[in-house]
Amino acid sequence: MSPAATKQELIILGGTSDLARTKLFPALFSLYCHRHLPKCVKIKSVVRQQHTLETFAELLKPHCEITGHEREFSEFIALVYLVYIDFDQPTQFKYLKNALDSQSQSIFYYAVAPELYEHLTHCLRQFQLLQSHTRIVIEKPLGRDLISAQAINQQLLSCFSESQIYRIDHYLGKEAVQNLLALRFGNSVFEPLWCAERIESIQITVAEESGVNDRAEYYDHSGALRDMAQNHLLQLLCMVTMEPPARMKPTAVRAEKLKILESLKTIYPNEVIHKTVRGQYGVNPDNTDHIAYTQENGVAEYSNIETFTALKVEIDNWRWAGMPIYLRTGKRLRCRHSEVLIQFRDAPIHLFKPSGGHAQRNRLVISLQPQEAIQFFVNSKSPGKGLGLHPIALNMDFCEYSQSRRWSAYERLLLDVLEGDLTLFLKAEEVEAAWRWIDPIIEGWEKYMPKPDGYFSGSWGPASSDQLIARDGFIWNNPIG
Ligand code: BG6
Repeated sequence: MSPAATKQELIILGGTSDLARTKLFPALFSLYCHRHLPKCVKIKSVVRQQHTLETFAELLKPHCEITGHEREFSEFIALVYLVYIDFDQPTQFKYLKNALDSQSQSIFYYAVAPELYEHLTHCLRQFQLLQSHTRIVIEKPLGRDLISAQAINQQLLSCFSESQIYRIDHYLGKEAVQNLLALRFGNSVFEPLWCAERIESIQITVAEESGVNDRAEYYDHSGALRDMAQNHLLQLLCMVTMEPPARMKPTAVRAEKLKILESLKTIYPNEVIHKTVRGQYGVNPDNTDHIAYTQENGVAEYSNIETFTALKVEIDNWRWAGMPIYLRTGKRLRCRHSEVLIQFRDAPIHLFKPSGGHAQRNRLVISLQPQEAIQFFVNSKSPGKGLGLHPIALNMDFCEYSQSRRWSAYERLLLDVLEGDLTLFLKAEEVEAAWRWIDPIIEGWEKYMPKPDGYFSGSWGPASSDQLIARDGFIWNNPIG
């Protein structure tokens, strides 16, 4: 079969996994409902327990937006072909071979724990299911340090070429994150201002209101640094700070992101106390509804895993040298709130007297979730007598602006995989560069900060997080309320 063949089969290995149930199938269903799922794509769900289409549909129902689309849901389910395989019995992969169309291009989505990648690849290879145009899609965690990430990459690259591997970071599929690129590279006004001479600091926050839910088993071996900072936060950082790519093509975009990751100034183990924060949520005495992290099901009683981290980052390149970037993320924070804040430098002299309000430095706030919006704060004359200033926001609200439906990150990324567009997927070197930067922090934490600072569930994290940024004269931009 030629790579240009139009028939494709999307094979989800781990068809009942949390990822498949809560993200992949709902995204495929939504694409189907809105007629974006190409007709030439067949969906095969490889499950490890016996299921009928009816019992499988029941698993998906709570996660799919079915109301008003009941008929489409039945149609969609009828399109899914279930293959039952016990992964511990490699000979059973013959059932998959029988189920696949040798004239179609296979796209294997590994919706399983990374420990299974090697085994699955081996089984697929044994049954000659891998060809030069096969694609595979994998998710984080891609390792837990540089060495393990290199091992995963090496193993995959011994069976696939880099252009066959789609490493997903779902944050790059979010509409607001792509808007960041549009804002930076689709407008000419920002580029001359986008540098350390004009910008004083950048904050990137990904705050979650939820706790670990039913993922404690994974999370208690991971923590916020590995789970969020190594991937989502660093990818956001790349989107904000990378050089304009020569074109919007995978090679160009990925090369620019890699340059940023390679320019991150190392935080050496003996610097972690000044440049990083680790926190873990405890009960809030005013709201005992939420339990402490260590009381969550599946978490070790004396766990020292962090559910919050804040980092002071610097990029050693010509554009950004010397300018601080503050990253923070955590679970059980006050509310779900993700944003990028660009704080510009102060005016060189202050000509206007404060009257009533007070002037502030210009700020560009790019809200990612729950709302997608961009606000640019400028100073304006306070009404009435005198020439005092107060800040006002120039608002761009994408929910109001866009009448069209909101795509989930996975819808967008799954279509990119089908279309063979690697722009929003990570290449091996990016994953490794990120771990290369994270590893000394982990080493420092083990040595100097083995115990995370406590914070109340529902707060904005430990006091040490405020202190980290206050030492440089800044405060976190928390939403009011
Ligand atoms: C995942 C993390 O990658 O991202 C989770 O493993 C986290 O711990 C989730 O909750 C957050 O994603 P989103 O899209 O809900 O912000």
